[in-house]
Amino acid sequence: MNHNDMANLHLKSGLMTRSWTASEYKKLLESETTRFFCVENGFLIGRIIGEEAEILNVIVHPNFRRLGKAKYLICKFEKQAKNAGSAKCFLEVAESNNPANKLYSNLGYVMVGRRESYYDFVDGSKDNASILSKEI
Ligand SMILES: CC(C)(COP(=O)(O)OP(=O)(O)OC[C@H]1O[C@@H](n2cnc3c(N)ncnc32)[C@H](O)[C@@H]1OP(=O)(O)O)[C@@H](O)C(=O)NCCC(=O)NCCS
Repeated sequence: MNHNDMANLHLKSGLMTRSWTASEYKKLLESETTRFFCVENGFLIGRIIGEEAEILNVIVHPNFRRLGKAKYLICKFEKQAKNAGSAKCFLEVAESNNPANKLYSNLGYVMVGRRESYYDFVDGSKDNASILSKEI
């Protein structure tokens, strides 16, 4: 999977925010702090900076959900982050994104902060972001 495939998958994800472009993914992949994991029809992109790891995005194609792919990708990322010396993993998620919130809470992530009206959705609406964290 390359940056073009990632952007294509993002377009099909159903996420309400503007899709990240292939060139945005390419730039991220070129960064030294970025970590990338993929499975068939899914990927995770994150970064590890010292003691802190951050999941930037995890996307699974709509036809291949509830098969444990996201859980597998997150566990891989957490393991690598822990081995690299990180103690905590963070992420941001829209409050209305029920599948993602269920996924993260089932994996032990807890809310540590909130950003009001953080997300601008393509339909013009807004949503708050929850900042979640987990000790890894
Ligand atoms: C969120 C997303 C990545 C989950 O991917 P997935 O591969 O379907 O998730 P998994 O199969 O690994 O799910 C693991 C667990 O999370 C929970 N979960 C995942 N999706 C769920 C849903 N739609 N409803 C309820 N619980 C859900 C369940 O506990 C699930 O375990 P179970 O299937 O044994 O009950 C996927 O729905 C997606 O790509 N959504 C659009 C992109 C997105 O929102 N990314 C997150 C941005 S912050």
